[in-house]
Amino acid sequence: MVTRRRLLKNFTKISAGGLFLNHSLDRYAFGQILDQFQSELSIPPPDAGSASNGRRNFYLRLQRGSTQFLPNAATSTFGINGDYLGPTLRFRRGEEVSLNVENRLGESSSLHWHGFHLPPTEDGGPHQSIAEGQSWNARFEVIQLAGTYWYHSHVLHQSGRQVYKGLAGMILVDDESAPMLPQEYGVDDIPLIIQDRRFDESGGLQYRTLYQDDVMGMMGDTILVNGTYRPYFRPSTSLVRFRVLNASNARSYNLAFSDNRSFYQIATDGGLLAAPVALTSLVLAPAERAEILVAFDPSDAVTLMSIGQQPAFPEFPGGISQMMRSLNTETFQLLALRASSSLTDNAEIPAALSTVFRLPEAAATNTRRFTLQMGAGMRSGEDRGPGTGARNGTGGGYGGGNYFINGRVMDMDFINERIQLNTTEIWEVRNNSPMMHPFHIHNGQFQVLDRNGRAPQANELGWKDTVQVRSGELVRLIMRFTDYIDESNPYMYHCHILEHEDRGMMGQFVLV
Ligand code: C2O
Ligand code: CU
Ligand code: CU
Repeated sequence: MVTRRRLLKNFTKISAGGLFLNHSLDRYAFGQILDQFQSELSIPPPDAGSASNGRRNFYLRLQRGSTQFLPNAATSTFGINGDYLGPTLRFRRGEEVSLNVENRLGESSSLHWHGFHLPPTEDGGPHQSIAEGQSWNARFEVIQLAGTYWYHSHVLHQSGRQVYKGLAGMILVDDESAPMLPQEYGVDDIPLIIQDRRFDESGGLQYRTLYQDDVMGMMGDTILVNGTYRPYFRPSTSLVRFRVLNASNARSYNLAFSDNRSFYQIATDGGLLAAPVALTSLVLAPAERAEILVAFDPSDAVTLMSIGQQPAFPEFPGGISQMMRSLNTETFQLLALRASSSLTDNAEIPAALSTVFRLPEAAATNTRRFTLQMGAGMRSGEDRGPGTGARNGTGGGYGGGNYFINGRVMDMDFINERIQLNTTEIWEVRNNSPMMHPFHIHNGQFQVLDRNGRAPQANELGWKDTVQVRSGELVRLIMRFTDYIDESNPYMYHCHILEHEDRGMMGQFVLV
């Protein structure tokens, strides 16, 4: 008799630590894993709402569900209008949307529209918590550029657990004036919601069961794409647009193809780049999105992978150093791709995509400084030179305590920053800790000015709402604050490693 333990052992898992230096792509030829990637990639159902009185109305119900991710095991999950994850919402630029969110989870929750420029009362953050059995209505005008956004739970201290259980989904903003790109949803325009999970022996989701889950954030050893375990997708067109959303709590992915082929990034978090950027790999941190175009030949067989990254933290004796050095160093498969033997010639890679207006640094009238810190307090903060808790001169400590921004943990009753309406500001975000933090600002999109004084790469010159701030880095952002003055309702900014956010690495700002 095959025991459940035996079954679970046979699953491909990400192996922890170790072999990161010699990962050769050839070892992951498609043929070797073809028999393992047996489930067709599920595509979240599109939901364009229903239009009435010039408004587009959506009904979203937060509910409990049961999902079969693994063979022979059911997992209890959360979903939005379904068992796990939610529908892909389709908004049109310029229209008003109304989102009715009904909470049937049995616990408080919220839904946040990540990346949107909207009034703070409609944002769905910790201040718009919805009690069990209650409904909340959000209404706002879609003034975003066309692009790939998302929505997820954002209830105080529980976002990590609720997103992990499934409270997330994608939002696509469409705009008729966008250039010709593959746009047939589920055919040549494919959402890829990438998440890592850890299962127990009976198929249940494990959450924050290890010390490192609290320190580095919750990392799983099993990958799901759109909730599908070991998925494959069959391209039927010569060009496919993948809208990649890293909806993991803490893991970053270094996307690449098993044959090292080039692909073209066409959009960042907040819309199209000026022109496609050719890449062979792309690191996507939690909450970041990238739209990529990939060309296929008939019968192509290739795998979308995540390639191990070099450890970013210097080596010291002791477990914490080992833990930090093992972060995101694993190589593993995400999605098997096998193209049809005859492909529809659907689109070409355009030479130009849009005009990205770069915010001039000279327009900024104020600079704010934010320092991201980890630790129990005693080791956080200033650089105290070499030694315990001040590794490599980057200062800062780490450990099982709270996480801070500028020495404070998130406090619902404390407004950290007051920002003058209709101004442009520079935010200097400094990471004094031993690991990367994806820094996210609510209420719209910013641009990256530089990292440690160096100009951003070509694919970071577009609009962003979440930016990687690596250990020891100082990243300067520029953002315009417009439209929604409200002295009493704040927006959030935070690390998008959800366990860091839940444990305090978050602050609030109001527009005055
Ligand atoms: Cu994606 Cu404050 O959130
Ligand atoms: Cu957000
Ligand atoms: Cu963080």
